[in-house]
Amino acid sequence: MTQGPVISTIHCMADVWDAYRPELDGVEDRVRKNLDSSVALVNTVAAHILSGGGKRIRPLLLQLSARLCGYSGKDHHQLGSLVEFIHTATLLHDDVVDDADIRRGRKTARKVWGNQISILVGDYLYTKAMCQVVEFRSQGINEVLAEACKKMAEGEVLQLYYNGNPAMPEIDYIKIVEHKTAGLIAAACRMGAILADASETQQEALFRFGQYLGIAFQVADDTLDYTANGEFLGKTIGQDLRQGKATLPLLHLLQHCSEQDRLMIKDRMETRTLSTADLERILSLMTDFGSIMYAMDRARTYIAAAKHELEIFEDSTARRALTVAADYMITRDR
Ligand code: IPE
Ligand code: IPE
Ligand code: MG
Ligand code: MG
Repeated sequence: MTQGPVISTIHCMADVWDAYRPELDGVEDRVRKNLDSSVALVNTVAAHILSGGGKRIRPLLLQLSARLCGYSGKDHHQLGSLVEFIHTATLLHDDVVDDADIRRGRKTARKVWGNQISILVGDYLYTKAMCQVVEFRSQGINEVLAEACKKMAEGEVLQLYYNGNPAMPEIDYIKIVEHKTAGLIAAACRMGAILADASETQQEALFRFGQYLGIAFQVADDTLDYTANGEFLGKTIGQDLRQGKATLPLLHLLQHCSEQDRLMIKDRMETRTLSTADLERILSLMTDFGSIMYAMDRARTYIAAAKHELEIFEDSTARRALTVAADYMITRDR
């Protein structure tokens, strides 16, 4: 970027979105152009979710990481769009696994076209991304992205293994989150550094930055599943517990609440029946026992560790933007 934003204009996430909007428009353009299947239904289903208003946080982190390492080209538009394809593929699959009805404020693809189409279009987006990523002819990018995809599948399987089990150890919760969410975010950051031909030390620092960020991002997502305004979030609130999924705030609550409440929660997880009244009761218990605060404190610790990784880089607009983006991962309300 020859004439980019300057440090003094970056104070909050809105400034970051504004400053990097033209770059993100470049990603959007690639997203549209890459949706070129000769099977029209593939494009229709993929466009339904891709145009639903995702935050595009992964392409943003990729491009900021590239700029941080001195990259001045435009390949991050294409690479960012491929990361978004992979992210979207995981969402299509995840909404089948989680029986989700709403995504990005609209009906999930599985709700409109059914589970089979949702899974297959997810497969298409995964493989389309792989077909195009090899065109970069970068062994580093191929390895990082393939590893992230493998880890995501492992994370989702480990999560299913624990489904309905309120006794999941916290360490395995972190393992799930690290695999299913942090892996791709870390890969996006590292790929930005690879585009910039950054040193191994810088690549590794950005990978760890993304990993910490990704863990905190998912912990915040899991907390929002209890606390957010569903309409604004664009997803159904309480869906994790309703699907038998124990996440950090719930694990904390289960360790501190009465035996009677613990049995009630266990029953709702096992029977997958959660009324609005149950959800309100659980949220009020979480407030009483500090479970929301506990989860968000853990998330804040990961964000602090992430920011620490940026210290090896000189001050720059991109570093400022990454610092602001790090805070946004856990202060966001959607
Ligand atoms: C949703 O990711 C899935 C999680 C990892 C929590 P995002 O919150 O980035 O979803 P979009 O792309 O903005 O919809
Ligand atoms: C994140 O998990 C999904 C992936 C990383 C594939 P969740 O199941 O919590 O995500 P949401 O809440 O459905 O977006
Ligand atoms: Mg889900
Ligand atoms: Mg969630």
